[in-house]
Amino acid sequence: MDSTEQTMHTTVLLHEAVDALMVDPDGFYVDGTFGRGGHSAELLARLSDQGSVIAIDKDPQAIVEGQQRFANDSRLSLVHGSFAELSEIVAQAEKAGSLSGVLLDLGVSSPQLDQAERGFSFMRDGPLDMRMDTSRGLSAADWIASAEEQDIARVLKEYGEERFARRMAGAVVKERAKNPITSTVQLAKILAAAHPAWERGKHPATKAFQAIRIFINRELDDLEDLLAQIVDTLKVGGRLVVISFHSLEDRRVKRFIRDQEQGIKLPKNLPVRDVDRGVRLVKVGKAIKPANTEVDLNIRSRSAVMRIAERVA
Ligand SMILES: C[S@@+](CC[C@H](N)C(=O)[O-])C[C@H]1O[C@@H](n2cnc3c(N)ncnc32)[C@H](O)[C@@H]1O
Repeated sequence: MDSTEQTMHTTVLLHEAVDALMVDPDGFYVDGTFGRGGHSAELLARLSDQGSVIAIDKDPQAIVEGQQRFANDSRLSLVHGSFAELSEIVAQAEKAGSLSGVLLDLGVSSPQLDQAERGFSFMRDGPLDMRMDTSRGLSAADWIASAEEQDIARVLKEYGEERFARRMAGAVVKERAKNPITSTVQLAKILAAAHPAWERGKHPATKAFQAIRIFINRELDDLEDLLAQIVDTLKVGGRLVVISFHSLEDRRVKRFIRDQEQGIKLPKNLPVRDVDRGVRLVKVGKAIKPANTEVDLNIRSRSAVMRIAERVA
């Protein structure tokens, strides 16, 4: 598949996410992960003429396609950048303090995975790129060519929870001394050969590819940066809705909301109210997973978990 062919992205937890987000039809919202605009479109459909959405994506291709698709809807502004720059983007739009909701649908989109030339997939041979933002930063090939062996091992272990991280890093370093590693399938073969315990139905490079992608795109750093800004950017009553696809992300979101709910740490059993503990953000409901019917229709939704929080003070 080449870049002239547009591929579809099936939006995960579409109605659940927008139901959770929609506190005010006249409100101002940020879709931090625009992708192909599935959530933004549903949000716009439920907003009044007074409502508005800023949609952000790191991927220039997502922004170009979004500008074409939504050219006639002046309630939507598209921004090429990272959701880690949320406060700045909101301030530039002169909307600071008026945000009704922020949505994050983390990870990669289907078009990113499906287009071989984006270099995310070990199933489709392409240049080893893996950048969501193709306009800046190191590609996976650049990093693999220059990283220290122990750094490669650390990335595979930390972001992929890969048991054989050290063996794989050793194999990469040995191989790159002979030939530059420039394609996805070439890297997948090197990683697979270094993996001693293949599991049925799972490519042995799966975890390592996920790890390199997370590292190259600073996925967990961006999430932490956004969480650090969220309370001050939402208005009271505003919602944060996050859909995560693996436990490294979900753990961070869950821990952040739990810490916010605890507020200032005071001795247990003191008769204090939430306001006295400085609680500004609380959990709304339990974590939500896609129904079996959604997973049957879209296998990529199977690992999704959605958490909702609301600013209360
Ligand atoms: C799962 S897709 C979102 C799909 C979207 N909700 C839809 O329905 O079409 C994730 C998108 O978020 C983008 N993305 C991931 N991390 C980002 C970040 N830190 N800042 C901005 N965009 C990001 C990716 O480029 C990708 O397009």
